[in-house]
Amino acid sequence: MSHGAPLFVGNWKMNKNASQTRSFIEAFVPLADAIPPHIRIAIAPPFTALGSAAAALSPSRRVALAAQNVSEFPEGAYTGEIAVSMLAEFDVAYVILGHSERRLYQRESDAEIGAKVRATLAAGMTPILAVGESLAVREEGHAVAHVLAQIDGAVGALDDESAAQLVIAYEPVWAIGTGKNCDCERAQEMALAIRQRRSAFAEIPILYGGSMKPENAAAYVRMPDIDGGLVGGASLDPRSFADLIAGAVAA
Ligand code: PGA
Repeated sequence: MSHGAPLFVGNWKMNKNASQTRSFIEAFVPLADAIPPHIRIAIAPPFTALGSAAAALSPSRRVALAAQNVSEFPEGAYTGEIAVSMLAEFDVAYVILGHSERRLYQRESDAEIGAKVRATLAAGMTPILAVGESLAVREEGHAVAHVLAQIDGAVGALDDESAAQLVIAYEPVWAIGTGKNCDCERAQEMALAIRQRRSAFAEIPILYGGSMKPENAAAYVRMPDIDGGLVGGASLDPRSFADLIAGAVAA
């Protein structure tokens, strides 16, 4: 953990309505205030809770807002989609893109994810590009090649200045929501391969995600190329998310 300020992002997926989001924030902000201020913290509630989250977070500004997806188009006839300008209204700082659940259930391609990355950057927000291999790909020994191909496919054409603004989250698909976290040496190996993919990645935050918990977070962020976490299940409870971050950064 040495590439700028560590970053922890709670990916709530399809959990919590607006009032549950407010309750979480009431409980979480005092806990987050006790975490050293250089540690960056964000939560990614569903779109419908972004407004109430923005209002509840604005007095302290300790915790930033992230979105779980965005459209690559600026506006128009795209029923069900959300544009970057709509996120900007709520001071959204980060947008998670290319999560494996969207690649699987919404069939998002690297090209589409790349277009969303460009729209996010153009709006002045930080994309968190999620990448990761399935168990079958890992067992065949192609994990690194697969992840680097996802990165090249989505952001290979970005200029260096833009590429240096990304956050990349390595999330092995077989470790997401399964309780089977990836051992930290393998996660480090992947993080290093990502970092070395292009010189523009030398200083970007690379996160680990996949069953990160208060008990195992410290071991990841002790790795030289892992700078924080993209946290699903363990971010849904304020105490557990705060314990995870505090434990990880105390290590
Ligand atoms: P998990 O999810 O922490 O519940 O495994 C991580 C993610 O999918 O971002």
